[in-house]
Amino acid sequence: MPMPTVAVLVGSLRAQSLNRRYAHALARLAEGTLEMRFCEIGDLPLYNEDLWADPPVPVLRMKQEVQAADAVMLITPEYNRGTTPAMVNALDWGSRPMGESCWPDKPAAISGISPGAPGTLGAQKELRERATVLGMQVMGLPQVYMQASEGLMQDDRIIEASAIDFLGGWLTKFAGFVEKHR
Ligand SMILES: Cc1cc2nc3c(=O)[nH]c(=O)nc-3n(C[C@H](O)[C@H](O)[C@H](O)COP(=O)(O)O)c2cc1C
Repeated sequence: MPMPTVAVLVGSLRAQSLNRRYAHALARLAEGTLEMRFCEIGDLPLYNEDLWADPPVPVLRMKQEVQAADAVMLITPEYNRGTTPAMVNALDWGSRPMGESCWPDKPAAISGISPGAPGTLGAQKELRERATVLGMQVMGLPQVYMQASEGLMQDDRIIEASAIDFLGGWLTKFAGFVEKHR
């Protein structure tokens, strides 16, 4: 059986994003267990129903990438106790046209990293609700709220031993969850 494929969406658009580095670190930890494929959302226009008259290429590409994957991973920063406009925009584009959403039944893992102590709790709470409404099968536990402490990451690698253990376990659990839904 080939490794499950996961479309990874990162809710930050900035080049030095902690969440992007974290997502790449997760992809490294998942090597041999999950094939993580990064799905760009920074080139999506702001959602506008009128654009379906001549669908933007990045929208069609994103939907195709999500459809082709066995699962999705949503990595979100926290903006004002919620998820980010970029993430919401991607979810909205993927959900339309009505009846052609790319999200239903996709097994989904949600996480995020923030310099603050709540570690994206507010962002994930909102995102979990949105993903559920869109019909994704969201893995409930364990929940992973990462605080960007000194010594956690170097470039795009997790270097703290306890975090490597914990995140490795989370990814293994997600691989099992994806297999169950395949
Ligand atoms: C508009 C805005 C709102 C923010 N609100 C929160 C917040 O509610 N909680 C939090 O922990 N950090 C908050 N932050 C700080 C972000 O967590 C921090 O900038 C983080 O590095 C952003 O993710 P990124 O590095 O992946 O871009 C906010 C940042 C911005 C730009």
